[in-house]
Amino acid sequence: MLQAIISDIHSNVPALTAVLKDIEQHKPDYIVCLGDTVGYGPQPKEALQMVRQNCKVILMGNHEHAVLNGAENFTPLAQMAIEWTAGQLRDPEILSFLSSLKPSEKIGDNMYVHGSLRDPIIDYVREADSPWMFHRLLQTLQDEFEGINLCFVGHNHRAFLGTGVGYIFPHDDGDNPQTKFRVEGQKAYVSVGSVGQPRDGDSRSSYILYDGNSVEYHRVKYDADKTASMIREVGLPEFLADRLIYGE
Ligand SMILES: [Fe+2]
Repeated sequence: MLQAIISDIHSNVPALTAVLKDIEQHKPDYIVCLGDTVGYGPQPKEALQMVRQNCKVILMGNHEHAVLNGAENFTPLAQMAIEWTAGQLRDPEILSFLSSLKPSEKIGDNMYVHGSLRDPIIDYVREADSPWMFHRLLQTLQDEFEGINLCFVGHNHRAFLGTGVGYIFPHDDGDNPQTKFRVEGQKAYVSVGSVGQPRDGDSRSSYILYDGNSVEYHRVKYDADKTASMIREVGLPEFLADRLIYGE
């Protein structure tokens, strides 16, 4: 069984289109989306429609949650984007679909969430956390979720693998690219990175493939200038356009 796992599309249709095309050539059995399909970007309706057409499992991210419940805890800039997004999604059918999204899904021995196991929608797994913090997170994974091996997360917009011995950062450049990691029987957080707003210094979209034994990280180049132009056209903050170009 081969899964493709995507997250944090953030209304970026050019990025999603490129990623779906790339995924297609690997012929996965199905695609899982870990949430934040909307927010920040210029095409929330279209992004949602594409995710609904292509993904078997779709989870709720903090941006979907904010569209439905308000964005009090967001930065002013993110709040502005959520208000604009909510305006675009004022359709009873879309709102009822968003309300139906689940915060987590268990498939086999693995958990799928947007945030973390402590809070599936809001909390972050960050590689910037101290090793001590990270060990606490792994303990949570082991103690409270007996029988769970991997936990797939989005939300932080960075691609990395968090294991008991530390963080592993995939890279596909240089003489010794490392993108595929054996995870069978391990307890680990698998942070899949972001399709539509990467923040790990690589502006290419990120997604992963998981075949039950290994996770494989993929990066896909897309037309970020096109999305940036659309962001400016609809009047969303300039910063949201700029950050796509730098992947920060
Ligand atoms: Fe996000």
